[in-house]
Amino acid sequence: MMKLIKANDYNDLSRKAANILSAQVILKPRSVLGLATGSSPIGVYKQLIEWYQKNDIDFSEVTTVNLDEYVGLAPENPQSYRYFMNHHFFNHINIDKTKTHVPNGIADDLEKECEAYNHLLDEVDGIDMQLLGIGLNGHIGFNEPDGEFEKLTHVVNLNASTIEANKRFFEKIEDVPKSAISMGIKSIMQAKHIVLIVSGQEKYDILKQSLFGPVTPHVPGSILQLHSHLTVIYSCDREL
Ligand code: F6R
Repeated sequence: MMKLIKANDYNDLSRKAANILSAQVILKPRSVLGLATGSSPIGVYKQLIEWYQKNDIDFSEVTTVNLDEYVGLAPENPQSYRYFMNHHFFNHINIDKTKTHVPNGIADDLEKECEAYNHLLDEVDGIDMQLLGIGLNGHIGFNEPDGEFEKLTHVVNLNASTIEANKRFFEKIEDVPKSAISMGIKSIMQAKHIVLIVSGQEKYDILKQSLFGPVTPHVPGSILQLHSHLTVIYSCDREL
């Protein structure tokens, strides 16, 4: 089932998505949440923090697994996704940090790290709700357009377009890491409920292609059409 929800603007989108995540945690306090970084979810995290401060949500039993991390960036590096998650979310709520997971981008053996992350995903026994953004080239997590879908956690070379899109978070483009560790398509698709948030007119075409075009690894987000419980919240000027 695909549910499309049109939001009025970024703020509305953030509140709607936060409402859904919040309901998930209220209904199942021991939820496993799959989380994303980037611009899209910042408003969602901000809203959840506000509700936490009002005593409306309790994160003490929640486990989180993040989609991805840059290779070569340590957790204390402000550009790393671990830092992002602490800064934008975890530092402000009552989550047990040992239950928050982001791939380790500075692992000596990256292949081993991928295996360990897959093992972790097995151990937590499935993601209850996965919050997802989508890249301009259709990537989800850092599953870049390719000839086939990568099933499990893997090291990926980032596309020139992704490096270009992400340079806004760095001082200069040379500072953007060229590779990342990303959860695979199978792990994402095994989440019980996927909440995709998409904001901005520039994402309209890729969103439309992902949801209504052919399912192909050249548009990784297109696989979401096959998910049994997908909620898409989008704020673009046009209806889909
Ligand atoms: C981030 C991630 C990426 C982003 C995507 C959109 O953890 O996995 O797939 O969701 O690049 O990024 P924003 O939201 O910055 O447009």
